[in-house]
Amino acid sequence: MSRRQKEIPLSQRKLPSVVSEKARAPLAVVLGSPAEVAHCLSFLKGIDATCYQMDLHQAERLKEELTERQIAATVTTKADVWDLPNDFQTVLYLPARGGERELKIDAIEQTYHILRPHGTLLVWSPVEREPFFPAQLKKIYGRYHAPLMNGQSVLWSQREGDRPRRRHEIVFQARLADGPSHRFVSRPGVFSYGRFDNGARALVETMVVHPGDRVLDLGCGCGANGIFAAQFAGDKGHIAFLDSNLRALALAEMNARANGVLSFETVASSRVEGLREGSFDVVLANPPYYANSAIARLFIERGRALLKPRGRFYLVTKRVEEIGEVMTQTFEYVEAAMHRGYTILSNTETMA
Ligand SMILES: C[S@@+](CC[C@H](N)C(=O)[O-])C[C@H]1O[C@@H](n2cnc3c(N)ncnc32)[C@H](O)[C@@H]1O
Repeated sequence: MSRRQKEIPLSQRKLPSVVSEKARAPLAVVLGSPAEVAHCLSFLKGIDATCYQMDLHQAERLKEELTERQIAATVTTKADVWDLPNDFQTVLYLPARGGERELKIDAIEQTYHILRPHGTLLVWSPVEREPFFPAQLKKIYGRYHAPLMNGQSVLWSQREGDRPRRRHEIVFQARLADGPSHRFVSRPGVFSYGRFDNGARALVETMVVHPGDRVLDLGCGCGANGIFAAQFAGDKGHIAFLDSNLRALALAEMNARANGVLSFETVASSRVEGLREGSFDVVLANPPYYANSAIARLFIERGRALLKPRGRFYLVTKRVEEIGEVMTQTFEYVEAAMHRGYTILSNTETMA
């Protein structure tokens, strides 16, 4: 098979026969892009299916895709796969090409716990002969089957017996200057796994937060930025953590509590909704680089709407030109400060 053929996305390939033969209701489809999930279900019409997504944005796109193709399936968004009922006869897991290795291990582990006894896990990977999955399936399920599929990579295993739940997580510590050290729990699928991101550090070392401030940690990940902000906002301050990724929000809540943040809320939204406009003194954002600058634009425009009249907006980026333009379209005054190789764009004078 040529290299070109190998790169055909799952959403353009015929569903392998082993998947249609083994898929029995109730079926859970775990992760996968909206196009891939809808594509698979178009071959399994009428099957009772639940699609798991971790992120609200992906879930919304998947619902649209399913509606467009007139496919009836439930789409559910939760922090963990094992938050679904443990009553599925089949799980079809669609790992992302080049996706995070730890998230794949975590997904394989968690699928075990939502299968009925003797239920089947099917893994349809876009990467042919990926050595990674056989080893993981063997470790978690005991056995795996890899039918010869003429260039397709499908593996399957059966749940036999019980195994204790093993949560994949890394705890990291971080501090600002001589301040107290904070401990953060991070999990696969949430930025940034296992470490305090350098861009985030540049952001929180630049922000100015006063006692009593209401701070929005926009796209909070595991909540580190808001938790550092709470250090300055103090007992009278308030932190709102917002993210579209439900695992991120679960972590932010847990980390805020463990680090002694007294007054906080978590908001699940992919459109930066659910908070009162004009009610924040500070908004902090470290937007992702995917989706061009669409998410940065959303964060900037909605962030501005949520700020009090003299509120301070801080965004860290390496894509200064593109995002700087959105900032100048949105705020009257914009300043750029370089710190640790990043640029912090703000509507106020920065200290860095
Ligand atoms: C680069 S990470 C930053 C995480 C953390 N604040 C930090 O600085 O380490 C960007 C975050 O934005 C979130 N995000 C992406 N698109 C979003 C959207 N449409 N609405 C809300 N959050 C979103 C992602 O889930 C991710 O947690």
